Amino acid sequence: MDGRRAPRHPRPSAAVIDYGVKRITPASRGSAEPPAGPVPGGQDQQAPVRVPEDDAPDSSPPPVPVRPSPGRGRHRAREARAGRASGAGPGTVAPPRAGPEHTGGGYRHRMSGAAEAREVPTAPGAPTAPKTPRVPETPKPPKTTEAPEVPDPAQKFGRAMSVWKEWQEAPWGRLRYAIAEANLVRHCEALSDGPLRVLDLAGGDGGDAVRLAARGHHVTIVDLAPAMLEAAAGRAREAGLADLVDCVEADVDRLPAGLAGGGFDVVLCHNLLAYADDARHTLGAALAPLRPDGLFSVMALNRHSQPLTVAVRETDLPAAVAALDSDRAGTRMFGSTLTLHTAEEVTRHLTGLGCRDVRHYGVRSVCDYLVDDARKYEPAFYAELESLELALTDRHPYMHTARLFQLIARKDG
Ligand SMILES: C[S@@+](CC[C@H](N)C(=O)[O-])C[C@H]1O[C@@H](n2cnc3c(N)ncnc32)[C@H](O)[C@@H]1O
Repeated sequence: MDGRRAPRHPRPSAAVIDYGVKRITPASRGSAEPPAGPVPGGQDQQAPVRVPEDDAPDSSPPPVPVRPSPGRGRHRAREARAGRASGAGPGTVAPPRAGPEHTGGGYRHRMSGAAEAREVPTAPGAPTAPKTPRVPETPKPPKTTEAPEVPDPAQKFGRAMSVWKEWQEAPWGRLRYAIAEANLVRHCEALSDGPLRVLDLAGGDGGDAVRLAARGHHVTIVDLAPAMLEAAAGRAREAGLADLVDCVEADVDRLPAGLAGGGFDVVLCHNLLAYADDARHTLGAALAPLRPDGLFSVMALNRHSQPLTVAVRETDLPAAVAALDSDRAGTRMFGSTLTLHTAEEVTRHLTGLGCRDVRHYGVRSVCDYLVDDARKYEPAFYAELESLELALTDRHPYMHTARLFQLIARKDG
């Protein structure tokens, strides 16, 4: 997405729809500054395992781009393996492990790679250090990565704004939006060559919405977090698209009647399912506002990617085995436990709910398995990575292990 508006789309008038719920319009808001206040899992917590992940970034310190310098490549790769140069920020945590390390149903923080203390075998004949007597250690409290559960959902999502923004600007965040947009645009163009009415459910701060508005579509964002909506309104205003973006504060599972019967051409439901108690129910609620033959796009973390991610990025093979049979992962960013889904399972829900022509795309087929995160900040490398990701998004078998899946379907007429 290049941020330019497609000239062939005439801009529709700014329809003001009264849904009987709190509505934030870009023009009516002042600053879209993220709220001050503590961020769940902020820097006062121990350094988390850094795994690029889409909608569940942890709150690692912001990634520090490493400038390429001769001879640093190997060092950088080593640092990345150790989780230092990664800056991958976003990260799920391995699922609970069976056995003594599992600290009671939560998600235990695990250091990755070289950060973990290792026994280094001594070469035969090498001088050995004098042995020091072992002093019994005071037992330390177990390390924990349990995401502090934040009871109020709006607060939970609202207070992670600054970390969320950092994640969006990181290479893996940019890739997620770029690939989703490319896939959507192909389907939207097949639907109509004019402006469409798009509903972005749980649309957050408008990462998808503003891109579609920049193409001339009218987008209504629904989200339950006012801070997200304020940021979305600000983003739309800054892009000069305030008249094409409406923001509505509402719960997707309890959409106001005006929206639920809205007859939208396109409905997005991106990275909501991980937080939903009942995916099928949420998908049913999300499909209600879509007109017959309209496009539905759902994106979610891919459960199949979790064991690979844990193995490759954390080098924690027992945790990878455990992840094979788990549909849970922890996220520090939003203080939540996530439910992981598969494209197969969500496709079954969609067809059961009256959708057809379900197309499966992979989002970030390669990025998350490249541990040298610092290189992803290099513009030339990023450009190559984006090209590769775009080439892989609809190819077997890569979409099956991509970090996220995006399904685009038609609602039956
Ligand atoms: C991970 S963010 C994704 C935002 C956006 N779809 C994206 O991918 O950039 C999840 C968003 O879902 C919103 N959310 C979670 N549960 C929701 C619900 N039941 N109804 C409306 N919004 C919800 C949160 O406030 C948050 O903005």
